[in-house]
Amino acid sequence: MYRIAVLASGRGSNLQSLLDAIAGGSLPAEIVGVFSDRSKAQALQRARDAGIAARALSPKAFETRAAFDAALFAAIDTVAPDLIVCAGYMRLVDAQVVEAHRGRVINIHPSLLPAFKGLHTHQQALDAAAAEHGASVHFLTPELDGGPVIAQARVDVHAGDTAESLAARVLLREHPLLVETLRWFAAGRISLAEDGVQIDDEASDPLQLAANQRFA
Ligand code: GRF
Repeated sequence: MYRIAVLASGRGSNLQSLLDAIAGGSLPAEIVGVFSDRSKAQALQRARDAGIAARALSPKAFETRAAFDAALFAAIDTVAPDLIVCAGYMRLVDAQVVEAHRGRVINIHPSLLPAFKGLHTHQQALDAAAAEHGASVHFLTPELDGGPVIAQARVDVHAGDTAESLAARVLLREHPLLVETLRWFAAGRISLAEDGVQIDDEASDPLQLAANQRFA
């Protein structure tokens, strides 16, 4: 079975959608561990409720970010994941740790990358009067939200949208986007090459999630 470790800092709704997809039989994979930088993250409780090992490490217990990240990823490595999924993980990861796990860590980010990196992406989209917004799944690289984009889901921005209404509409698409992307990972169809994402061993533009929640 395809082994997934999840890193989450907060609510964990993306984790929950993965757990639900696995329980419902639509994602042939196993969550082998959930890890957090915050002991109070709701994601940890969701994991424990599902009978999955969950562990928080506190950045404050380490002298440097590099030391924290090395310890965190050493803990993750003990569960031998095929893929590490950052789903609402709110910290930058040390470049050396990222390089050591190259091609095996992905992140979901709530914008159509390369647009609107960093925080407050929904407000950024509104401020830029974007007609379209959405979410992206990308390989983690040392550059914040800068790794090769694997897949995206798009939503229209509506007149009268607030950051909250837009975030809610994007989140509804994030969940199926992550599940579908992981289905393709589990099937061995996605990899990271020197020059970017490969789908079925060919260089590929980002996959686009269709209305039926599958890749177009
Ligand atoms: C999501 O919007 C994710 O894209 C972003 O943080 C949010 C996390 O939500 N990076 P949740 O913790 O999965 O509910």
